[in-house]
Amino acid sequence: MTTTESPIHLRSPEARDGKTVWELVRAGGTLEANTPYCYLLLCSHFAENCIVAEKRGEIVGFIMAYRPPSDPEAVFVWQVGVAPAGRGQGLATKMLDRLIAQPGNFDARFLIATVDPDNAPSNKLFAAFARGQGATLETETGYGPELFPPGHAPEPLLRIGPLPTRARNSD
Ligand SMILES: CC(C)(COP(=O)(O)OP(=O)(O)OC[C@H]1O[C@@H](n2cnc3c(N)ncnc32)[C@H](O)[C@@H]1OP(=O)(O)O)[C@@H](O)C(=O)NCCC(=O)NCCS
Repeated sequence: MTTTESPIHLRSPEARDGKTVWELVRAGGTLEANTPYCYLLLCSHFAENCIVAEKRGEIVGFIMAYRPPSDPEAVFVWQVGVAPAGRGQGLATKMLDRLIAQPGNFDARFLIATVDPDNAPSNKLFAAFARGQGATLETETGYGPELFPPGHAPEPLLRIGPLPTRARNSD
């Protein structure tokens, strides 16, 4: 018997996706869950910088990102998550590859992200993305523990680039 895997569709989010992204963050157990309104704002104000992955009409992965006004050549990946059942199959890498061709990001020269040094899957993900783009990955200080309430891990900043020139994807 052969089984046919449902295709995964990558697209920009819409306002109505914000609450589902929030639910995925809570279910994933690793990311700091922010308010539902925060995800709604990212999915609407920054829709052209963000991406969601849909399978059979359900959101199974997301990247919340934006262009920091203080670093206009960069796209900042704030949170990336894949539903537990879909991990380890290359989805996050695919989303990052597509993210940098999104209408809001195709001209960014760097992808930046802060990553908990103890989060191995996340560190491996960004290393794999940098390799795939033929880009250098450098670690900067980012945000130290003194900037957070007690108990929050520091957030060193990864800077990946320069990214290759690419076409704008408007799917
Ligand atoms: C981090 C996360 C998004 C990765 O998603 P994914 O779709 O499983 O990642 P991919 O399948 O594209 O794998 C990317 C790389 O990470 C590695 N990786 C994935 N899961 C891993 C794990 N549990 N342990 C070690 N390495 C792992 C893969 O081997 C691959 O590296 P390679 O190309 O060198 O082999 C996912 O694990 C997740 O949602 N975690 C919870 C949320 C989180 O921690 N987000 C990151 C902080 S912003």
